[in-house]
Amino acid sequence: MAAETKFSVLPRHIGIIMDGNGRWAKKRGLPRTAGHKKGADVFRDITTYCSELGIEAVTFYAFSTENWRRPPEEVNTLMDLFREYFEELERRERENEKMGFRIRFIGDISGLPADIAALAAETERRSNSETRTTVNIAVNYGGRQEIVHAAQLLAQQVQSGALAPEDITEDLFAKHIYTGDLPDPDVIIRPGGEMRLSNFMTWQSAYSEFWFSDVLWPDFTRATLDEVFADFDKRNRRFGGV
Ligand code: IPE
Ligand code: IPE
Ligand code: MG
Repeated sequence: MAAETKFSVLPRHIGIIMDGNGRWAKKRGLPRTAGHKKGADVFRDITTYCSELGIEAVTFYAFSTENWRRPPEEVNTLMDLFREYFEELERRERENEKMGFRIRFIGDISGLPADIAALAAETERRSNSETRTTVNIAVNYGGRQEIVHAAQLLAQQVQSGALAPEDITEDLFAKHIYTGDLPDPDVIIRPGGEMRLSNFMTWQSAYSEFWFSDVLWPDFTRATLDEVFADFDKRNRRFGGV
């Protein structure tokens, strides 16, 4: 049975921490970079599945502000994979239109190699009119960095006299974070066995459901996502009420 008819409610917005690539490769005696390559294929398939299901938004954690601490060869491979994906998006523009992907990048894009930042901006521009599924890719992203960035935008408005400090509300603040025009993630998924957020969607996750699993990201499939949906269907979200 198709997922959209199997579950009574599907999340509107899903956050995914794509973790476990390195361990997946190690288990097979392969270099960590082989895990990242397989992980990138899984990302493509899960993105397509989300669009098929008509999920409103999905945010993938691809590279954190802390991931610069990794060896330069690994960082370079990850940057090469981003480049490859963006170039592929350009080549497959038609197909993406069919999928209805609106692609957005969240994070400090200016901190990426200039050609990748330019490709990212071009991808956003070309897909901006799509409405079916917003695919956020978090690159050079940190939840704390995102909050500081929002605070800076608001401080500039206060400094220019456009805004009074007492006008800063939760709603206004939320509009200044990267995902300001989207609902908060209903569920945050972390494969790879760790039970932490690692600086992902710090503001947005206040009332998210969490789904952790030992499955490594390169082994994650559409069926795994169906498991998440089945679980989510059973959660009782009270938002502080009764
Ligand atoms: C996630 O997999 C990919 C990135 C963080 C870019 P890891 O590379 O963290 O894989 P593990 O956690 O070492 O297995
Ligand atoms: C989180 O995974 C970042 C991404 C998946 C992009 P990490 O592997 O970097 O997280 P830690 O180091 O285990 O907390
Ligand atoms: Mg990891």
